[in-house]
Amino acid sequence: MNFEIQKRVLSTVIRDNSDALIVLWPAEDALLLAGNDPLASLMAAAIRLGDFERKPGGLISLYAHPGVKARHLVIVCCEEGTPAQLRRALNAAWGALKSAKIKHLGVHAALDMNAQQLQAAVSTLGEASYSYTHTLSKPKPRLLDKLTLSTGVVTAPLREAMVQAQALLAGVEVAKEWANRPANHATPTLLADAAKAIAKGTGFKCEVLGPKEVTKLGMGSFLAVARGSAEPLRFIVMRYNGAAASQAPVVLVGKGITFDTGGISIKPAGEMDEMKYDMSGAASVLGVFAALAQLKPRFNVVGLIPATENMPDGLAVKPGDVVTSMSGQTIEILNTDAEGRLVLCDALTYAERFKPKAVIDIATLTGACVIALGAVRSGLFSSNDELAVALQAAGEASGDTCWRMPLDDEYAEGLKTRFADVANVAGRQAGAVTAAKFLQRFATRFAWAHLDIAGTAWKSGAAKGATGRPVGLLLHYLLAQSEPTTGKAKGLRSRA
Ligand code: BES
Ligand code: MN
Ligand code: ZN
Repeated sequence: MNFEIQKRVLSTVIRDNSDALIVLWPAEDALLLAGNDPLASLMAAAIRLGDFERKPGGLISLYAHPGVKARHLVIVCCEEGTPAQLRRALNAAWGALKSAKIKHLGVHAALDMNAQQLQAAVSTLGEASYSYTHTLSKPKPRLLDKLTLSTGVVTAPLREAMVQAQALLAGVEVAKEWANRPANHATPTLLADAAKAIAKGTGFKCEVLGPKEVTKLGMGSFLAVARGSAEPLRFIVMRYNGAAASQAPVVLVGKGITFDTGGISIKPAGEMDEMKYDMSGAASVLGVFAALAQLKPRFNVVGLIPATENMPDGLAVKPGDVVTSMSGQTIEILNTDAEGRLVLCDALTYAERFKPKAVIDIATLTGACVIALGAVRSGLFSSNDELAVALQAAGEASGDTCWRMPLDDEYAEGLKTRFADVANVAGRQAGAVTAAKFLQRFATRFAWAHLDIAGTAWKSGAAKGATGRPVGLLLHYLLAQSEPTTGKAKGLRSRA
């Protein structure tokens, strides 16, 4: 998609030649109503007659208005214009335009915008225009290939925010696309190919390990999960080097279960198809790397993806089997459906070699997290307060929010077993926390955080589909980390 930002006033924007024009109309509109353009008189009448409510979702939709060059015109109330209000307003406006063939969309914000507001506007429209096509025999051509955003004041930070918003959108789209693809079109091998394709020509490295190399590394826990699958496992290592090799990287570890049947502890049939989304953590890592490839910021990031299916089979790991992880710790696998932690623990041990500044794992880890936090916030667990605060702040700034959960040692009691150093499940209580406590045992050598995205990575029901979360949170976190605390920054920054 082609994006541009322009400094414009409404009276000239209405003469632009786009297919549709959306006007973001603030609740404080005295100045707008005093204008001498055709919209001012139209809106004054609409407000007087009660046809336009200055309330969330209030909108007027017109076709072929003589005073406006665009075929479609939607005027939508955005109240004070907070990021959340802009998202709501633009979703409503896009909904009003839905069936129209819109290639070039103009959006005029009749208010001064800051970077966060701009990012909210761009990501909302960009995301609304995504549709999944990969496995359709007759895909509809994609709507919206050009977006012209105009506002009264365009500053340098706003232009920079536009660049970031575009990269974020590209990253979110990569994450959605790979998460949405069915498991037979997104095998571990295909995920690895996708990682290589993102790396190609962008100056970051991608290395893919197979069963032989993973065996040599001693990843007995990861291997145990992969035993039941006919698809060979892949361990994907991506390295984005934007700074000197001496600078410690942030390591992102994405759970890459391309399909989770539960294994021998098999899941019930209802909605099992949704377990194609069990690689959403991996998809978010691919998405972040796609965004980094565009932005080329000056820091280092490593992406690790342990990818495999979790299948029942004659060779599959059985409840009660004890395996030895790469860390040397033995694990009693009491439930083969708690497989995410089994692939992640070996990836966490592998992360040690990068002497990381921080390690963040991202996983659709527990149904219990969906019960705890629903689809609104991702679960955040961290042994490091500074890291937790930074991630929570990145969530708020990006609108891709998370909520910190506890890690008291008492929660680990249930993981004790007579037959190994640790069991892979505890009782039914606090399932999201006990899963995190399991992971924490493998993350003692660096600052670590875990994001449980089981509730936020996709939507169920009629609007079933990947959300692309938490690419926004992660990218905001990374860019904020690189932000110098003093002096004039030339690099890419996220500003409030
Ligand atoms: N991938 C699932 C978690 C999941 C379930 C995410 C439903 C989203 C919706 C994970 O591998 C799993 O099966 N976890 C088990 C753990 C249990 C066996 C301790 C769960 O949550 O039931
Ligand atoms: Mn499972
Ligand atoms: Zn799973």
